[in-house]
Amino acid sequence: MSQPLRVPALSLVVLVGVAGSGKSTFAARHFRPTQVVSSDGCRALVADDPRDQSATGAAFEVAHLVTRHRLANGLLTVLDATSVEPAARRPLLELAREHDVPAVAIVLDLPEELCARRAAERPDRAVAAAVVHRQHMELRAGLHGLRAEGFAAVHVLRTEAEAAGTAVDLVGSPLDRRAEQGPFDIVGDVHGCLDELEELLGRLGYEIARDGAGRAVGAHHPTGRRAVFVGDLVDRGPDPAGVLRLAMGMVAAGDALAVAGNHEHKLVRALGRAGAGVGAGGQAKVGGNLARTLELLGAEPAEFQAAAFDFCAGLAGHLVLDGGALVVAHAGLKEAYHGRDSDRALAFALFGDTTGERDEYGLPVRLPWAEQYRGRATVVYGHTPMFEHRWVNNTLCVDTGCCFGGSLTALRYPERELVSVQARREHYPPVRPLRHEPGVAAS
Ligand code: UTP
Ligand code: MG
Repeated sequence: MSQPLRVPALSLVVLVGVAGSGKSTFAARHFRPTQVVSSDGCRALVADDPRDQSATGAAFEVAHLVTRHRLANGLLTVLDATSVEPAARRPLLELAREHDVPAVAIVLDLPEELCARRAAERPDRAVAAAVVHRQHMELRAGLHGLRAEGFAAVHVLRTEAEAAGTAVDLVGSPLDRRAEQGPFDIVGDVHGCLDELEELLGRLGYEIARDGAGRAVGAHHPTGRRAVFVGDLVDRGPDPAGVLRLAMGMVAAGDALAVAGNHEHKLVRALGRAGAGVGAGGQAKVGGNLARTLELLGAEPAEFQAAAFDFCAGLAGHLVLDGGALVVAHAGLKEAYHGRDSDRALAFALFGDTTGERDEYGLPVRLPWAEQYRGRATVVYGHTPMFEHRWVNNTLCVDTGCCFGGSLTALRYPERELVSVQARREHYPPVRPLRHEPGVAAS
């Protein structure tokens, strides 16, 4: 028995194989009927006859349209057509990119004679051996270029036994935490403000656990509530290592969830080890407050440094929670990117919808995505320090600029109550004054 194929639960699966290679058989065995869009099925829809080759153009138009709508709805889709030519795969790869889902190729590269025999024997529609031969040549010519074409993964099944005996495992995305129903306390940008974080958690009803040296290493809520950190735990404030220690302890114990902020992203790059995603692998410019975070982390034991790196590098770009009703992302997230794992979805979640320009303070100019948001999910985010809270189209920013002398805020969800504690002092001078209107300022 071969290893099961691991396929992302939200992806576009493109079956590739000549007539008679067993694509439809494979699709029917491993996927639900509604997940499979087949060229034969679409020919039947538009022409009442799956064999009507004159209906091919219209059939693919329908196949692509159905695929587009399914991907927009966040549904796994399996394309069952020969797809042996790059030109047939190109529009599918484009659809996957457009909807921020990975495209996966499952190639049924079975012996040509076997396929030709099966194709000739097909009771409904015999395919000539010459046609199978031409398809086989095309398949072989393109096989090694599939990754370069843009497929995130390519699985090749070569024998009848392999095709029949290989299972498909659908792998859920780490962003998809819809099964987690809360209740949650969503905590804004902490930025190294450990005293304020401990006070806030206390106000929210968490009991803080301490190690022998009195350092906070966890916090548990007696009724099982969980904190969700919106990212930017580090930089600026007095104790980024202490904040990481507490947040890491809470996440490890199941008392908290966390998403990445742009400051964790930068920290991971600065620590010089590769992390996937936006601009990964390169060395970040080490500015003033990042250098200080690195210095403070450098004073910690090696195991803590390694654990902190793994924690930051492993943070999700955003989380979809509570059956899809709640999305937490550091800089917010438009609906098209909810649950999507692409580079541009990650960039949006970390940095917001930036124009690429800089304002008079040298900070990135942002587009007010929340003003345009019409999504069903509640989006809770941080990143843009704000004096006051204002719900905008079912989105809320909970960053109240604690490190700049503002406050540290949590949103109780689903209650939608806000709990804030005042900053002890201005820990870090703001580059520009805090804004009143959501979605405009940058940090
Ligand atoms: P399929 O009808 O699944 O092939 O199998 P296909 O790749 O989708 O073909 P096209 O492109 O639509 O024409 C072809 C024949 O092979 C048999 C099937 O029952 C069918 O008659 N088959 C398939 C097997 O006998 N064993 C298998 O493992 C797979
Ligand atoms: Mg078929």
